[in-house]
Amino acid sequence: MTTAKTYRSDDWDRYRMDYSSPHRELEPLEREIAVVGEALEALRAAGVLGHTDYDHAGMLAHRAAVREHFEIPWTAITPRMQRLLYAINAIVQPANLIAAGIFCGNTFISNAGAAVGPGACYQARQLLGVEIDPDKADLAERNVRRIDPTGVARILAEDAVDTAATFPEPIQLLYLDADGTPEKGKGIYLDILQAAMDRIPTGGVVLAHNSVNAAERLEQYLDFVRNPAHMAASVNVIFDIEGLEVSVK
Ligand SMILES: C[S@@+](CC[C@H](N)C(=O)[O-])C[C@H]1O[C@@H](n2cnc3c(N)ncnc32)[C@H](O)[C@@H]1O
Repeated sequence: MTTAKTYRSDDWDRYRMDYSSPHRELEPLEREIAVVGEALEALRAAGVLGHTDYDHAGMLAHRAAVREHFEIPWTAITPRMQRLLYAINAIVQPANLIAAGIFCGNTFISNAGAAVGPGACYQARQLLGVEIDPDKADLAERNVRRIDPTGVARILAEDAVDTAATFPEPIQLLYLDADGTPEKGKGIYLDILQAAMDRIPTGGVVLAHNSVNAAERLEQYLDFVRNPAHMAASVNVIFDIEGLEVSVK
């Protein structure tokens, strides 16, 4: 049996970004905060998150640092998604994070921005961004080092399935965005999750980007996380055309 829960904003299909202009404002800040607040409340009501509070000034400090220091050739992370990822990081406060398939590091730092840099509100142990393409991993590492000189957040140039299988500590937050091989595509999310599953503790959170525009390739993954035998709760957050499936173990 699977249970599918959804948060959907009324404008999700009209809220569009230009992937080559990551910093362009798409709506008034108050609207962005309100929509993300509704999504967080849906996650709290479903039992995925314990509360919905996060530091709004810290979020804007994080956003400003990324804007100033990151080289981003393109990204599909909308300002709403950037805020949601930052907020989930701030609320869950994972000691350890694995972010799989991070391209230039923009998605990774959205997931880590509440632990490192000017938006930091807690101390983490290990925040790993994993990127299989060495050139992209180099770019991501250069970007991340400009925000986090400590090394708590760092990039590994390897296959995220291997990282997930061998990471020796509990993984409190797992972010999935790898696009695998041409045959497998985003279907690789399930391989990465299953490789990590035994080290995700109760209360650990798993995020899957593209739950809307890659829903077909993610069918098996979505069936898995929406099955209460595997995850305690799962919500599809739809406030842009990409979407994010947010699951808790
Ligand atoms: C489409 S990008 C994600 C971009 C992100 N959604 C954004 O908007 O910035 C997916 C990345 O996953 C990487 N990738 C594919 N298979 C992977 C694997 N097995 N392990 C780690 N990274 C992988 C690709 O090289 C690519 O950079």
